[in-house]
Amino acid sequence: MLSITDLDYAVQGRPLFRKASAFIASGWKVGLIGRNGTGKSTLLRLIREEIESPMGDASIRINKNARLGWVAQEVEATDETIMDVVLAADQERHRLMQDSLTETDPNKLGEIYERLTDMDAWNADTRAAIVLAGLGFSQDDFHRATKEFSGGWRMRYRYCGRIGQ
Ligand SMILES: Nc1ncnc2c1ncn2[C@@H]1O[C@H](COP(=O)(O)OP(=O)(O)OP(=O)(O)O)[C@@H](O)[C@H]1O
Ligand SMILES: [Mg+2]
Repeated sequence: MLSITDLDYAVQGRPLFRKASAFIASGWKVGLIGRNGTGKSTLLRLIREEIESPMGDASIRINKNARLGWVAQEVEATDETIMDVVLAADQERHRLMQDSLTETDPNKLGEIYERLTDMDAWNADTRAAIVLAGLGFSQDDFHRATKEFSGGWRMRYRYCGRIGQ
């Protein structure tokens, strides 16, 4: 049904597969298990030719009668950084910050700043950093785009909710 031979694949210079081979016969039920970010989704993308790898002597062969079904991992990936996404999860803070950029009435602006100060909005990124570090992200990760993370890693920050509350 599926035969993979000598597959090599690297992301940003980091090898995910080195001379990997696998064989699945018709009727087998197979699970693919590995830690977050080790390349499971990438392997499935290679199999369905969503991404291409310079194959050389390697090959991925699928029985021509096979039908491929596919369920994507849920969390969307964009150019936003994970810090942006986590900070935006605090919707009231996010809205007040946006309003503070456009509000022209000095009284209303005062109210916005008072509310932001009450909620300790100015330290939100520090609290976000603590939460993200607790979820296993490194400092370097905070300002990387969400699309650079595997689905499992994206699940981790997705459910941060309101930081520190
Ligand atoms: N567009 C990209 N830019 C940079 N790195 C990427 C990109 N897409 C994937 N990666 C990296 O490739 C590696 C493999 O990701 P992949 O999504 O295949 O992992 P996974 O095994 O499916 O993980 P999970 O269990 O979290 O779903 C990860 O380290 C990920 O950060
Ligand atoms: Mg995955």
